[in-house]
Amino acid sequence: MQEKDATSKIRIVKIKDGTVIDHIRAGHALDVLQILGITGQEGNIVTLAMNISSSRVGHKDIVKIEDRILKASEVARIALVAPEATINLIEDYIVVDKTRVELPDTISDVVQCTNLRCVTNKEREPIRAKYEVVSRQPITLKCLYCWNLVEEEEIITQFCA
Ligand code: CTP
Ligand code: ZN
Repeated sequence: MQEKDATSKIRIVKIKDGTVIDHIRAGHALDVLQILGITGQEGNIVTLAMNISSSRVGHKDIVKIEDRILKASEVARIALVAPEATINLIEDYIVVDKTRVELPDTISDVVQCTNLRCVTNKEREPIRAKYEVVSRQPITLKCLYCWNLVEEEEIITQFCA
């Protein structure tokens, strides 16, 4: 189905080839663009919709990127800013693959502990960062080495650095 608003008008066109990131938490589409490094200079056609009505999540954002396939590492980052998102791979107008991003209870790497004295930040022989997800909305990670809490805002800032 095409996305429709309350008056059932079709809002965004379907794409031929590329990736549709659907069910993004409303208000987070720009974070998704940032963590994917999309600036508009790459030349891909990108369509963005914000605050679309959704039966499943109330309101959602959608990002459609033509002629681009996401890497697993990019999907892992999206899970941290849009944990309910679905990633749809489109080939010749057909959805050929649909994956729900997953935010597990513990995650490794991806994020840097914000406590500079943490063993995961040691210059020599640093230990791999590991976190427990202690809150999902907004996301808060607890470093399993120093118990420092890393907040969603800080995670997004790191991804955009
Ligand atoms: N889509 C698109 N271009 C296509 C096919 C699909 O932009 N050629 C978009 C749809 O608009 C939708 C998403 O990709 O936002 C997933 O498509 P589809 O699985 O057909 O929609 P739903 O069944 O509504 O998906 P879900 O069950 O995940 O809500
Ligand atoms: Zn730490």
